[in-house]
Amino acid sequence: MPEPYTTHNLQPRLGLPNLGLGVGLRNTHFEHILEHGAGVAWFEVITENFIDNYGYARHVLERIAHTCPIVMHGVSLSIGSTDALNLDYLKKLRQLAKELQPVWISDHLCWTGAAAMNTHDLLPLPLNEATLAHVAERVRIVQDFLERPLIIENPSTYVEFEQSNMAEDEFLSRLTEKTGCGLLLDVNNVYVSAYNHGFDAERYIRNLPADRIVQIHLAGPSQHGDYMIDTHDQPVPTPVWHLYALAQTLTGGVSTLLEWDASIPDYPDLLAELDKARLVMTGHFPEMKINAASGSSISTPLHFQLEELSTS
Ligand SMILES: [Fe+2]
Repeated sequence: MPEPYTTHNLQPRLGLPNLGLGVGLRNTHFEHILEHGAGVAWFEVITENFIDNYGYARHVLERIAHTCPIVMHGVSLSIGSTDALNLDYLKKLRQLAKELQPVWISDHLCWTGAAAMNTHDLLPLPLNEATLAHVAERVRIVQDFLERPLIIENPSTYVEFEQSNMAEDEFLSRLTEKTGCGLLLDVNNVYVSAYNHGFDAERYIRNLPADRIVQIHLAGPSQHGDYMIDTHDQPVPTPVWHLYALAQTLTGGVSTLLEWDASIPDYPDLLAELDKARLVMTGHFPEMKINAASGSSISTPLHFQLEELSTS
């Protein structure tokens, strides 16, 4: 019986390596990668795209995984839901991890549905003591089941619960203390949520335990009326690069992953965007504004905006 994953038996950063700069693996780039090579230090794959999938994409992934580290990033764990944990999903997750040998497994601080319905949205939680106890218990169960620490990503959010009385940075910090889980700090999500809710993004990042941050996500959001939306269809804007530099300074440098899920550029252009991370760490910040979402309108219903979200 393995020892449960608690803070007392984990090293800083959970003993997980800095993989360097990577991108999310997307089907549209398969042919380029197979022909010209990865061009990055590592890939992140969306877990659900490979569960029960033994087709061409799985074949390509297995070829890539032979030569390049991969990390599994899930969108269906629903760690905050009041539904029971989905044992069938967890078994498939564990089996996939056994086959692919990812360096770590991540998912989001969110719920994705209730009453066995998956909305395919990463929905916000009421942030309070009761939710913290609930999520911590479920994180412990998942970690014991997977026999490895779980890496939890901060979500981008657009609404808050009246029942929330704890800042998200405090919630995540205490979650790591209670469970020994790691953090995937999406600096774009911090920017998006800070914009939408009016909190200080830099303070949020400074309040997190830097030694628990295993990975950083970069992405580009879009302005949509009064909201900032996590669209993953733009270059990384200047303020997000500043948050990235802060996070890398505080952590001492952790694995960095560029997410791009809509209007996906050609692979060389994607790598050029990722490469800006090197420039940023020498103090040179790209001048990049945030674009308006196509069809942007203040009157656009929120449910439409939520449907636009993907991997966060
Ligand atoms: Fe993300």
